Amino acid sequence: MKAAVLNELGADLQVRDDVSLTDLGAGEVHVKLVSSGVCHSDLSVQNGTIPMGFPLVLGHEGAGIVQEVGPGVTDVVAGDHVILSFVPACRKCGPCERGQAYLCDNSMTVGMTPHFVVDGNPIAGMTGLGTFAEELITAESCVVKVDQDIPLDIVSLIGCGVTTGVGAAINTAEVTPGSSVVVFGCGGVGISAIQGARIAGAAEILAVDMVESKLEQAKNFGATHVCTPDALDQLKAEITGGEGFDYALECIGNPVTIRGAFDAARRGGTAVVVGVGRLTDEVKFNAFEFFFTDKNLRGSMYGSANVRTFMPKLLRLWRQGKLDLESMITRRIQLDDVNDAFQAMEKGEVIRSVIDYK
Ligand code: APR
Ligand code: ZN
Repeated sequence: MKAAVLNELGADLQVRDDVSLTDLGAGEVHVKLVSSGVCHSDLSVQNGTIPMGFPLVLGHEGAGIVQEVGPGVTDVVAGDHVILSFVPACRKCGPCERGQAYLCDNSMTVGMTPHFVVDGNPIAGMTGLGTFAEELITAESCVVKVDQDIPLDIVSLIGCGVTTGVGAAINTAEVTPGSSVVVFGCGGVGISAIQGARIAGAAEILAVDMVESKLEQAKNFGATHVCTPDALDQLKAEITGGEGFDYALECIGNPVTIRGAFDAARRGGTAVVVGVGRLTDEVKFNAFEFFFTDKNLRGSMYGSANVRTFMPKLLRLWRQGKLDLESMITRRIQLDDVNDAFQAMEKGEVIRSVIDYK
């Protein structure tokens, strides 16, 4: 089958047609991909922002159809439609038991287990998935069953960007009705954060992006105001009287905009770091400002979501027309075009590219 392999840091993805799968083990599920989103985190593995071992089949935002299940699997059967979760939700470890499945203890083990075979060697898929492949094997804890009538292209977006962004607004920031929100970055994650803030009832939502066309698009998803970074202070003054926003969500992963999000939040407000920055990048805070501003600075992993309950909720919001998934797909591609999709994302030309495996 076909799969896109990252052989070394900074290399183009190599799309091969001679990749196979390991034998299906106990507790594992064999899935045929129907769609995969291309997320910035894939690019961040390629450029070293997110450190991972190579060679690796990239892709962690996908949906497909279960082909076969290994011994002991009870959650799904062949024929089920599933979202692939890039973090397992094993239901047994400490984090899962305390309702923080997004921190599941099994993430590392699942992520490092190789399920692809290339040139006779077993290699892993990104985060235990590898959705840039026609088929994959993953742990039962990484699949979430969905109703068969929902198109799998939009379902694939739930696998990362939408859960991450909507979850950051609803679960992490806990945006309240009538509040003011600023979102930095209008890619798949930022647009989802804007939608999450809208669903939560925010009164004003300011979208900030350096690409003008993104700002126009952001308005269609619920942004009430938009600006480029240079105009942020002016908009902050207009919208909040200079006090700052109740919530600031950083969906880029850049130390400058992380600091910018903290500064954009009001005293007593909340800044959430959703974007993934480099291990070597640092953000400076002085020792006085946390006391004086009483601000909350929160991290957000996978939208602080329990995937088993939150993903079905997102699809119910979609069914009722409250979450727009269709318009987030701004480019449809084949696996062969994945390197082009990376370039388009780097230039800020797309909200989401989606790979079609049909
Ligand atoms: N100021 C303003 N906007 C910026 C800046 C900046 N300094 N740098 C990038 N942007 C904008 C881009 O123009 C783009 O619209 O941020 C957006 C990022 O979108 P994508 O590249 O599509 O990334 P996305 O998939 O949304 O992921 C965002 O979340 O999950 C993490 O690893 C992921 O860190 C990444 C972030
Ligand atoms: Zn992602």
